Amino acid sequence: MQIVLKELKRSYGTLHAVDGISLTIPSNTVFGIIGRSGAGKSTLVRLISLLEYPDAGEVYYDEVRVDNLPKPELIQRRRRIGMIFQNFNLFSSRNAAENIAYPMEITGMDSEAIHNRVQELLALVSLEGKEHAPISTLSGGQKQRVAIARALACKPDILFCDEATSALDPQTTHSILALIKEIQKKMALTVVMITHQMEVVRDACDQVAVITDGKVVEQGKVTDIFAHPASEVTKDFLTHLIGVDESEKENEKMVQWSKKKGAYTLRFRGDSTDQPILSKISRDLGVEFNIRAGGVQKVGNEEIGTMIVDISGDAETQQKALDALRSENVIVEEDQL
Ligand SMILES: Nc1ncnc2c1ncn2[C@@H]1O[C@H](COP(=O)(O)OP(=O)(O)O)[C@@H](O)[C@H]1O
Ligand SMILES: [Mg+2]
Repeated sequence: MQIVLKELKRSYGTLHAVDGISLTIPSNTVFGIIGRSGAGKSTLVRLISLLEYPDAGEVYYDEVRVDNLPKPELIQRRRRIGMIFQNFNLFSSRNAAENIAYPMEITGMDSEAIHNRVQELLALVSLEGKEHAPISTLSGGQKQRVAIARALACKPDILFCDEATSALDPQTTHSILALIKEIQKKMALTVVMITHQMEVVRDACDQVAVITDGKVVEQGKVTDIFAHPASEVTKDFLTHLIGVDESEKENEKMVQWSKKKGAYTLRFRGDSTDQPILSKISRDLGVEFNIRAGGVQKVGNEEIGTMIVDISGDAETQQKALDALRSENVIVEEDQL
């Protein structure tokens, strides 16, 4: 299911929470929407998932306009949309199986069919044997698995995840993201992943849109945006990601030798990550690179190296070094000190 948004707007009083967003979210993919708290992400999700009407603009699922559906059709359409949230939104009075059964009860499915589907879903999210568990006895990761199973109960074609891993530790986040990716493929879902964490975008998304103040400031393939961030907001997210690394994967950690910010951020992509470019330029031009921090991350199937450096010498020498780096396809950003 491809989702197309055209000039969507939603205001609360004088506050433009969603301020003219146009996006194409391709079918059969995990699409990230990242932004800081208050950027308008949850409001946007409510509009795309037809929970709220926009003030202006249009939403299409494939070729069909859906933002102005009459009530009965809206209810039908909404049954094929799954949603999961940061705080799980489970019924504490029901056990795991009863939570998963709930949306099917509403549609009037017969109890044997519900029972069978619940067993299937429990297996899908690796919670076999937990059907009678009261919600309060489950861990955060297990609760989110119940919520995912419930979201998938009526075989949706779109799954919205609004900060679905924000309350989970890094290791649990990892396993939930892996599960979502696996389910996306298995069910050919369109997954819209809302987050304020670049780790989530890096580990789970194929494409991403960055939003600030209700507007899209940047969008594209995750690998391209990691290598070539255009907006200040995106650069900030990336700096944060490599600075305060919560990654469990030892070889992806950014090593910091100095707290002081370097003058330049260098990004090496693909082949250039394992070539001795710096020492070659250093030799050729007689400049020194003082490396303040560095690391390599895996983004999708690609490796992107990041280094924060300052460069010795006068402005002219530095400029020559920068030109040489760029001619080796290194992406150079000048940090504001
Ligand atoms: N129902 C509402 N009434 C008034 N203001 C709201 C409402 N929902 C969201 N807002 C405001 O809209 C802005 C965007 O909020 P939200 O979409 O929740 O952002 P995010 O999910 O990115 O943190 C915030 O300033 C928030 O206070
Ligand atoms: Mg939100």
